[in-house]
Amino acid sequence: MNIHIINGPNLNLLGVREKSIYGDSSFETYLAGLKSRYPDVNITYYQSNVEGELINKLHEIGFSEDGIVLNAGAYTHTSVAIADAIAAITTPVVEVHISNVHKREEFRHHSFLSSNCKGIIVGFGMDGYRLAIESLIVK
Ligand code: DQA
Repeated sequence: MNIHIINGPNLNLLGVREKSIYGDSSFETYLAGLKSRYPDVNITYYQSNVEGELINKLHEIGFSEDGIVLNAGAYTHTSVAIADAIAAITTPVVEVHISNVHKREEFRHHSFLSSNCKGIIVGFGMDGYRLAIESLIVK
């Protein structure tokens, strides 16, 4: 089974950025644990701060892989283009947010992406990526 994790802007700074909200682990450290927990799942990771690069990646993998776990960061709340890319592809996408966006500023309450995703996992910290993988394994 091939699952891709895609992180959007500023998520390269996990472990450094706003630790009280996002925790103190880097994504690379977390990912190593995730890969050893799911040895039978081929987990690939991609991160970009650039909207068009995220769209290109969705197009590249979105017709052949088993699942995509997407945390589009702030683009979640702004990007019709990423929403359209998710609608265009056939691979199921699970939207993840580390923080509970509904407890935060009003502008974080709306996602352009959710209605085109298989489901959403919000507010469980980094463990949200694992929960998303579980949901894709179960199908
Ligand atoms: C985030 C929530 C977004 O509102 C924010 O812009 C992020 C991270 C999360 O994982 O909680 O960059 O997607």
